[in-house]
Amino acid sequence: MAVFITGGAGFIGSHTCVEMLEAGYEIVVADNYSNSSAESLERVKKITGKDFPYYECDIRDKEGLARIFDAHKIDAVIHFAGLKAVGESVAKPLEYYDNNIGGTIALLEVMREKNVKTIVFSSSATVYGSENPVPFKEDMKTGGTTNPYGTTKYMIEIILQDLCKADPEWSVSLLRYFNPIGAHESGLIGEAPNGIPNNLMPYIAQVAVGKREKLSVFGNDYNTPDGTGVRDYIHVVDLAKGHVKAVARAVSVKGCEVFNLGTGHGVSVLELVNAFKEANGIEIPYVIAPRRPGDIDNSYADVTKAWEILGWKTEKTIVDACRDTWRWQSGNPDGYGN
Ligand code: NAD
Ligand code: UFG
Repeated sequence: MAVFITGGAGFIGSHTCVEMLEAGYEIVVADNYSNSSAESLERVKKITGKDFPYYECDIRDKEGLARIFDAHKIDAVIHFAGLKAVGESVAKPLEYYDNNIGGTIALLEVMREKNVKTIVFSSSATVYGSENPVPFKEDMKTGGTTNPYGTTKYMIEIILQDLCKADPEWSVSLLRYFNPIGAHESGLIGEAPNGIPNNLMPYIAQVAVGKREKLSVFGNDYNTPDGTGVRDYIHVVDLAKGHVKAVARAVSVKGCEVFNLGTGHGVSVLELVNAFKEANGIEIPYVIAPRRPGDIDNSYADVTKAWEILGWKTEKTIVDACRDTWRWQSGNPDGYGN
């Protein structure tokens, strides 16, 4: 059985390739490298000692996708490919709707044509919006997203739910990720953002390596224990293992299911800064800055459903994630570019 992985060269995709190969699956990867490079896939081969085919292909290119489906016996798809920068999506909404929604529809059309009807999709905790109380539970109301990126995730969830209603042969797993951080413990693959990082952990890592002077903590007057924003930081290797479980479930159960993938614990910005020091002995200089528009006080998952149905829960701590991030960042200060 082969699983087709879109966006497999990216941060979460590359870690999922490792876990899928180690679980014994065959994989086929496609990526347009708009936010990654094929070097990550070469490193996946090095980590696992396993070979697999990968293609430079944009998921909006239906002919290119069809050729890949014709060349391999594909049974299921894990769909990571998409643009993910919240701020950029506000400035470039058409690019985001075209790439994320247009790309997903093109992929689904080719899957239907080739009679492959099992898909695991990268959704996000952002679909819970700003009105729900924590912890977020899968059956809470979704929507109310505040930027085009988040809206693409919400809309793709609806598209996939509608597809399952229209055709009971489909199996869809909507995985709502919380905040993925960390890197593979080999230090060979990790997160390699272009330009100034938007997200907290890569920013901390770049301060630690001397690329940035100090961290700006966006607000210390939130309704949280220390006033800084609280998130559910999940080690990317735990997250990747969640995909292995979700694929196994999706190939055996038809219909649409939703799962939160998080730890179930909230951690503040300052707690993460302290965890980085505890793990690596490196102090991260910071200043308190104004709130970032669109940020919410608290976001963390209720993880009961993933445990009960997928038999999955996280095993790694934020200190593990800080150690692994630093091993990756210090060994690869320019990401895959060196
Ligand atoms: P990433 O940018 O590292 O990976 C996405 C990959 O998709 C990249 O390799 C990129 O080159 C590729 N890609 C983009 N558009 C494509 C297209 N049209 N055709 C082919 N390939 C394309 O991001 P990531 O952090 O690994 O995220 C993976 C998925 O998880 C994304 O869908 C993202 O929205 C979602 N997600 C991420 C987070 C997070 O915080 N990292 C949180 C929730 C959800
Ligand atoms: N933060 C700072 N300084 C920074 C960066 C972030 O203080 O330089 C704070 C934020 O204000 C927030 C916390 O750190 O309180 C986490 O911020 P991130 O940008 O790392 O993550 P978000 O929770 O804002 O968003 C992430 C992804 C979204 C996704 C969401 C939910 O970027 O794509 O998690 O999954 F939708």
